[in-house]
Amino acid sequence: MKKDIAVIILAAGKSTRMKSEVPKVLHSICGRPMLGYVLDLVASLKSRHVVAVLGHKQELVRKILPKSVKIAIQKNLIGTADAVKAGLSALKGFKGTVLLLYGDNPLLKDKTLKKLIDYHLKNNVDATLLTAHLKKPAGYGRIMRDKCFNICGIVEEKDADEVQKDIKEINTGIMVFKKDKLEENLKYIRPNNLKKEYYLTDIVEILAKKGYLVDGIKVEDAQEALGINTRKELAQAGSLMQTRINDKFMQAGVTIMDPKSTFINFGTKIGSDTKIYPFTVIERGVKIGKRCSVGPFAHLRENVELKDDVTAGNFIEMVRAKIGSKTLVKHFSYIGDSTLGSNVNIGAGTVTANFDGIRKNNTIIKDNVNIGSDTIIVAPAKIGKFAVTGAGSVVTKNIPDKTVVAGVPARILRKSVFPAGR
Ligand code: UD1
Ligand code: MG
Repeated sequence: MKKDIAVIILAAGKSTRMKSEVPKVLHSICGRPMLGYVLDLVASLKSRHVVAVLGHKQELVRKILPKSVKIAIQKNLIGTADAVKAGLSALKGFKGTVLLLYGDNPLLKDKTLKKLIDYHLKNNVDATLLTAHLKKPAGYGRIMRDKCFNICGIVEEKDADEVQKDIKEINTGIMVFKKDKLEENLKYIRPNNLKKEYYLTDIVEILAKKGYLVDGIKVEDAQEALGINTRKELAQAGSLMQTRINDKFMQAGVTIMDPKSTFINFGTKIGSDTKIYPFTVIERGVKIGKRCSVGPFAHLRENVELKDDVTAGNFIEMVRAKIGSKTLVKHFSYIGDSTLGSNVNIGAGTVTANFDGIRKNNTIIKDNVNIGSDTIIVAPAKIGKFAVTGAGSVVTKNIPDKTVVAGVPARILRKSVFPAGR
């Protein structure tokens, strides 16, 4: 992308409408802070001048910013215009085009952004807005157009009269400016509104009145415009993002039997011909190989890796677990802090008791082991290859290779005479 574009991301606001102690931009969508999606978008522009404006609990927000992003602090959260002013203070010496993004706008796509910037540059516009048409525009700033259909202002919902509230074209908050026009006119903004804030949106009327060229393009898919201010909008964004994630996996050859009840976080990997049954939750960072079968009612948490041809079946919870190829964990099991080899069969109701009340301990199960139903493995424990546990065993010690154990606590019965498993 063009080198002379700077980006300012506004992310200083509180979480007032979320009613939350957590800064709004850190609220999670599909297992990731919403600001993360905006940062990805910005990365796609390859700009060398990216500024994030932080304020409320900035020490938490800055943790998720890449090093290349400059930070500007907005001292008093008195409105979006003031936030932009803070952002510009980190762009001294930069001349050219400034793109403004809101940190609570995670569904925007890079294609749309590029279209907006191209339009702005090609037509030599002073300020280009990304607008959207919404059937229910409540909550958003409305785009005002004059008789010639030129944009002449933005009125915020709170300050709008009934006629203005009826306008269906809204401000997405994404705008591109010639930097000098933005900078020199911010100072004319006054907090003459119900919230007594300095609204960035007022700059549109100021520029238009001065005869500068203000224009807008409409985003085709209005869902991209969704701004997250409330928990309800957070849930809507989550469901739209989930659809995108699930669609991507299905296109890549993963069967998802019921996408509506399948929750796969951002940043997971799933191989082709894997089948995901309904009511399954797969959290961030989980890796699943090819031809696996997961669910129904499976919960795969952080740091789970399934190699190829693994079954993690009904009512399974796994966390920090590596499962070798062709291993079956088919019914009601908890596998935590564990490494399982290949061709292992885990009987129904098996539990790796990983927590002793103080620390988490590891379980290692080698290849071709056959764990009987209802076995409890009290970690730390290592179960040697071709070992077998009887139903209801409570394993409290390491088990040598090719050994059959049973009982509470499990005792060695004999050598396993045939290779267990499959
Ligand atoms: C804003 C727009 C509205 C638009 C909507 C789109 C204004 C005045 N209104 O309203 O026209 O339709 O977004 O989603 O801009 N922020 C700061 N410092 C501040 C205040 C806000 O950094 O002092 C940041 C917030 O963290 C947020 C962004 O600016 O990321 C937008 O603020 P928000 O309060 O969500 O504005 P909206 O009411 O949604
Ligand atoms: Mg908002």
